[in-house]
Amino acid sequence: MRAVRGNVPCGFWRLRSRFGALSLSPVIRFRTLGILGRRATALAAALLPLPALATDAETEKAFIMGLPKAELHVHLEGTMEPELYLAIAQRNGIFTPYATGEDVRDRLRAAHDLPSFIVIYEELIGAAQTAQDFHDIALAYFRKAHSQGVVYAEVYFDPQLHLERGVPLETLYAGLAAAQRDAREELGLEAHYILSFLRDRSAADAAHVLEASRPWIGDLVIGVGLDNPEVKDFPAKFEEVFERAGALGLHRTSHCDVDQADTIANHWGVIEKLKVERIDHGLNVPDDPALVAAVRARGIGLTGAPTLFYTEIPGRMAYRAGRIRQLLDLGLLVSVNSDDPGMKRSLYVGDLMERVQEETGMSRDDIVRLARNSFAIAWIDEAERAAYLGRIDRYLADREPT
Ligand code: ADE
Ligand code: ZN
Repeated sequence: MRAVRGNVPCGFWRLRSRFGALSLSPVIRFRTLGILGRRATALAAALLPLPALATDAETEKAFIMGLPKAELHVHLEGTMEPELYLAIAQRNGIFTPYATGEDVRDRLRAAHDLPSFIVIYEELIGAAQTAQDFHDIALAYFRKAHSQGVVYAEVYFDPQLHLERGVPLETLYAGLAAAQRDAREELGLEAHYILSFLRDRSAADAAHVLEASRPWIGDLVIGVGLDNPEVKDFPAKFEEVFERAGALGLHRTSHCDVDQADTIANHWGVIEKLKVERIDHGLNVPDDPALVAAVRARGIGLTGAPTLFYTEIPGRMAYRAGRIRQLLDLGLLVSVNSDDPGMKRSLYVGDLMERVQEETGMSRDDIVRLARNSFAIAWIDEAERAAYLGRIDRYLADREPT
């Protein structure tokens, strides 16, 4: 069992975890704690309904879920749960071969790598046609993320996928803006979007979508990124368009997937050619000491996302979670992120942190560091950063033993 720092004596934790919730009678519980000496009082207490005692795993889960955190690497389209896909397809009169959410999940299980997943991702997102659809996908994600402690999110979206199938940018952005407003009003969750260019499409296409998106740059779109499957020399291909994005005041990030051909060269490429402030995944950084030094010196954030095909590929989660731990131990600014939680059955970020802790034996302090890092590398001003970090401090202070 992993080490857990609680706010009651260790012996009590051991007792609780050994016997589990509800396994001790209330009388014995009170005696064990030495709180009540007199039998009559204990018996009276035994007659009162007592809440079940949480196991230490449950306590740790509640701690992680409530810990304020930012999500920085999640794909809007990939947050769509199969049931929402079916509802959207139905209301838009779009034919779907799937009768139930489970049918859609079966189809998704056929994906075994990023390219095969992207084929299905494109198929499913094809159901989204209206601003309402994009709003509903985003707001459903914000609600779910908020339930797991996310108070701030920067969300990737793929405008080219929608433009290619005839959905105007105005429709897409209207939906994103409405969801941003609703997340603020309903949840107090602050959200912005990262305009992503598809690495396997042309730089000219990317330049076009960037110029066409200029009216929404600002509060809505705050950065650009690169996603979809890696192609050879992708950093060089997008150098000019990233320079233009920088000139427009946009932040910059890019995927560098794990253990790809030319992985180290691509990491260097996105740093030196694209001038990124973050690398999405970036889990190969420890493989090159010079890269570690450069990432550290430039304060580049690494948005680890360990769940791609973790149910299909044995050892996948442990390997990637281990890499995240390694980056944390190196003192780099790594965070944990959910990537495509609706479609890929990857975990939402609270569940994910819990799983990463389980896989790596991280302490509670390590988990808090991951949460702090998520704000350290968020694209917010220093006053906002201080406010979010202060929320973590207050959360911890409220849980200190008195
Ligand atoms: N687009 C959607 N999900 C993606 C992922 N996990 N990696 C790269 N591009 C993506
Ligand atoms: Zn991703």
